[in-house]
Amino acid sequence: MPTFTGLLILSIFVTSGLCAVYQQLSDLKQDRFDFVVVGGGTAGAVVASRLSEVEKFQVLVIEAGPSNEGVLNSQVPLLAFDIQHTPYDWNFTTTPQKFANGRTVSYSRGFMLGGTSSTDLMVFTRGTTDDYDRWARVTGDPGWSWDQMFPYFIKNERFMPPTDGRNITGEYDPTIHGYDGMTRVSLVNEVQNPFESNVFAAADELGGNFQFNLDMNNGTLLGTAWVQGTNGGGERSSSATAYLTRQILGRKNLHVLLNTRTTRIQRSKTSSSDGPEFDKVEVVGNGWPRLFRATKEVILSAGSIGSPHILFHSGIGDAQELESVGIKPRVNLPSLGKNLTDHPFLLMVFEANTTEPNIFANSTLLAEAFEEWNSSRTGPLANIPSANIIYGRLPTNLPFDDPSPGPNTGHWELVLSLNRRPTATPQVIAAISIVSPTSRGTLTINSSDPFDSPLIDPTFFATPGDIAIARDAVRNVRKFFAAKSWEGYITSETPPSAGADSDDELDAFISGNFTTTWHPGCTAMMSPKGADYGVVDPDLKVKGIRGLRIVDASVMPFLISGHLLAGIYAIGERAADMIKQDWMS
Ligand SMILES: Cc1cc2nc3c(=O)[nH]c(=O)nc-3n(C[C@H](O)[C@H](O)[C@H](O)COP(=O)(O)OP(=O)(O)OC[C@H]3O[C@@H](n4cnc5c(N)ncnc54)[C@H](O)[C@@H]3O)c2cc1C
Ligand SMILES: *[C@@H]1O[C@H](CO)[C@@H](O)[C@H](O)[C@H]1NC(C)=O
Ligand SMILES: *[C@@H]1O[C@H](CO)[C@@H](O)[C@H](O)[C@H]1NC(C)=O
Ligand SMILES: *[C@@H]1O[C@H](CO)[C@@H](O)[C@H](O)[C@H]1NC(C)=O
Ligand SMILES: *[C@@H]1O[C@H](CO)[C@@H](O)[C@H](O)[C@H]1NC(C)=O
Ligand SMILES: *[C@@H]1O[C@H](CO)[C@@H](O)[C@H](O)[C@H]1NC(C)=O
Ligand SMILES: *[C@@H]1O[C@H](CO)[C@@H](O)[C@H](O)[C@H]1NC(C)=O
Ligand SMILES: *[C@@H]1O[C@H](CO)[C@@H](O)[C@H](O)[C@H]1NC(C)=O
Ligand SMILES: *[C@@H]1O[C@H](CO)[C@@H](O)[C@H](O)[C@H]1NC(C)=O
Ligand SMILES: *[C@@H]1O[C@H](CO)[C@@H](O)[C@H](O)[C@H]1NC(C)=O
Repeated sequence: MPTFTGLLILSIFVTSGLCAVYQQLSDLKQDRFDFVVVGGGTAGAVVASRLSEVEKFQVLVIEAGPSNEGVLNSQVPLLAFDIQHTPYDWNFTTTPQKFANGRTVSYSRGFMLGGTSSTDLMVFTRGTTDDYDRWARVTGDPGWSWDQMFPYFIKNERFMPPTDGRNITGEYDPTIHGYDGMTRVSLVNEVQNPFESNVFAAADELGGNFQFNLDMNNGTLLGTAWVQGTNGGGERSSSATAYLTRQILGRKNLHVLLNTRTTRIQRSKTSSSDGPEFDKVEVVGNGWPRLFRATKEVILSAGSIGSPHILFHSGIGDAQELESVGIKPRVNLPSLGKNLTDHPFLLMVFEANTTEPNIFANSTLLAEAFEEWNSSRTGPLANIPSANIIYGRLPTNLPFDDPSPGPNTGHWELVLSLNRRPTATPQVIAAISIVSPTSRGTLTINSSDPFDSPLIDPTFFATPGDIAIARDAVRNVRKFFAAKSWEGYITSETPPSAGADSDDELDAFISGNFTTTWHPGCTAMMSPKGADYGVVDPDLKVKGIRGLRIVDASVMPFLISGHLLAGIYAIGERAADMIKQDWMS
C-alpha cells in the first residue's frame, strides 16, 4: 500500500513536470529569486529545503556537481571508500606540509548534490557539550550552546533500528534521539564477531580511557561506544536524499540547478548603514556566464574551501592579499580563510588471527553481499566501516594548556575495524583522528581565475600539543590491543608504526604517514557582533556586508571534537530558522 501511493505521487509530478531540477544552466529561464543558495551540499540542502517550506519564498540552489541519483558508490554505505578521485570529487590537494617534510595530502570534497554528505564515511557524532558551550562563549550568543542546539539535533534526526532488526538495547540511549527528523541514523546490522565483541570486552577489561559509554551523542565523547551512522534504512542518508526528496523537489518554489559553477558574488549599486549589498550571483554553465539576483539574501554554502574561495574572487578578503593577485578589493575582511582547522589522521595496522570473512577479498562473497543489499538493504554492505568508536584524553599535568574545550571532550579518537583491502592474511586497522588540534592553517588564492584551485594549507602538526596527542593515541592503541580479550587474535603490529617506540621514532612515523580526517572548518569563523576579527556575526551574516550569509562548516569558530556532519546539519537547521524569522515578520 505505501509503495503504491509512492508510485502514484511520483508519476503525478513526473508527468506534470513540477520537479524543478535543471541539469544545465540553459534549462532555467527565471533570473530572480528571493533566496539564492550557493552550493547544494550538506548545509545548503538543509537551508534550501527549510526555506522552501514557506510557499511565498522563491528559492534557487546552485550546485557545481551533478545529481546524486543512481550513484551506487554513494548509495551503498560500505562502498563509500570508492568515491574519492571520481567525477564526484573536487580532487583538491594541500600545499606541501612542513611537518611532513614537504609531502602534500590528498583533500577530497564532494562534487555532487548533497556535497560531502554524499561522499563521506557517515560516522555521526554531534560533538560535546563543551564544544557548543565554547561556541556560545566566543560568539556571545547563547543560541549556539549545547542546550539551545539540542532541539536542532532532534529536528535533524530520524533514528531507526538496524535493517536486520537485531536487538540494540544497551547499545544507545533512546531518550536523546530524534525519530521524526530528516537524516536517517542507525547502528550497524550484522555485527562482525568475534571482532566487535572483543572490542567491547577489552573496553570493559581496561576501563579508564576505554570505559563503555552508552551513547556518544549525549554530549560526552569519552570511552568506547557503538558508533552511529547516517546509514539508517541500510542506505546512505545524505542531505540530498533526506532534505531534497522527490516530494520536496516537487515544491513549485524550489529550483535546483546542477552542473553550474558559481564564480563570484557581485554587489548591487545600493549601500546602507550595514555596508554594501551583495545580491547577484555570477555563474558559469554550458560555457557561458550569467547572473542571478537574490531579492532577499544570498546564502553561501559552498563549504569550508568553496565559500571563502568564491568570496576572494568577489573582492572580499584581506585587501592587500587580493591586490597582490590582481583582484580589486571591495570589502576588507582580513580573517577570511585564516584559522583553517582540520583533524589530522593516522592508520596503524595489525596482523590478526581470525577466520571472519572479508567480502572484498572474495568476489563470490561480494556478489552475494550486493544481491542481499539490493534486495533487502541488509548485510555487510548496508553498514558503515566500523561498529565502534573510542575517545580518550591525554594524561593530566600537561606541559601546555589543555587543547580541548573541556572535560567531556576527547583529545584523540580511535575507530577500529577489520581491514577490507584484500591482503594475504587478515588485518585489523586502528584509525586515529586528532580531534582537539591547536594548529591553525590558511586558505588563500594565487590567481584571479575562479577556476583555479585555492591553496589549502591546514598546517598540520604545527603545535607540540598536536604531536603529543598523536603519540598518546598510538600508545593507547597498543595498550588496547594488549588487553587479555585480544589474546590469540591480534598477533603483531605491522610497519611502518611497528617498532616506533621513543618520541623521536613516533614523530618519524607520524610525520611520514599522517593524512586527514577531511574535516576542514573555521575559514569564515563566527565572532561577536562588532568584533575586529572573524568573518560572520553569530547570525551568520557576513561582517560589513548586507544581504549575504554563510551557512556551512566554515563558520565554526572552533571545530567540534568529533565528526562534523551532525553539527553542520544543526547549523543549517538553526540558520534556516534565523533567516525565516528575519523575513516572515
Ligand atoms: C572522504 C570524507 C569522509 C568523511 N567522513 C565523515 C564522517 O564519517 N562523518 C562526518 O561527520 N563527517 C565526515 N566528513 C566530513 C563531512 O562530510 C563534511 O565536513 C561536511 O559534509 C561538509 O559540509 P558543508 O556543508 O560544509 O560542505 P559540503 O557538503 O562540501 O557542500 C559544499 C557544496 O558546495 C558545492 N560547491 C562548492 N563550490 C561551488 C561553486 N563554486 N559553485 C557551485 N557549487 C559549489 C560543492 O560541490 C558541494 O556540493 C568526511 C569528509 C570526507 C571528504
Ligand atoms: C577528479 O578526478 C577524477 C579521476 O582522475 C576525474 O575523473 C574527475 O573528473 C575529477 N573531478 C572533477 C570534479 O574534475
Ligand atoms: C533486547 O535485549 C534486552 C537486554 O539485552 C532485553 O531486556 C529485551 O527483552 C530484548 N528485547 C527483545 C525484543 O528481545
Ligand atoms: C553521557 O553518558 C555518559 C556515560 O554513558 C555519562 O558519564 C555522562 O554524564 C553523560 N553526559 C551527559 C551530558 O549527559
Ligand atoms: C583566529 O581565531 C582566534 C581564536 O581562536 C582569534 O583570536 C583570532 O583573531 C583569529 N584569527 C584571525 C586572523 O581571525
Ligand atoms: C569465497 O567464498 C565462497 C563462499 O563462502 C567460498 O566457497 C570460496 O571458497 C571462497 N573463495 C576463496 C578464493 O576464498
Ligand atoms: C537491483 O535490483 C533491481 C530490482 O529491484 C534491479 O532492477 C537491478 O538490476 C539490481 N541491480 C543490480 C546491479 O543488480
Ligand atoms: C598556484 O599554486 C599552484 C599549486 O601550488 C601552482 O601549481 C601554480 O603554479 C600557482 N600559480 C601561480 C600563478 O603562482
Ligand atoms: C588462532 O586462533 C585459534 C582459534 O581462535 C587458536 O586456537 C590459535 O592458537 C590462534 N593462533 C595464534 C598464533 O594465536
Ligand atoms: C611512514 O613512516 C615511515 C617512518 O616511520 C617512513 O619510513 C615511511 O616512508 C612512511 N610512509 C609513507 C607512505 O610516507
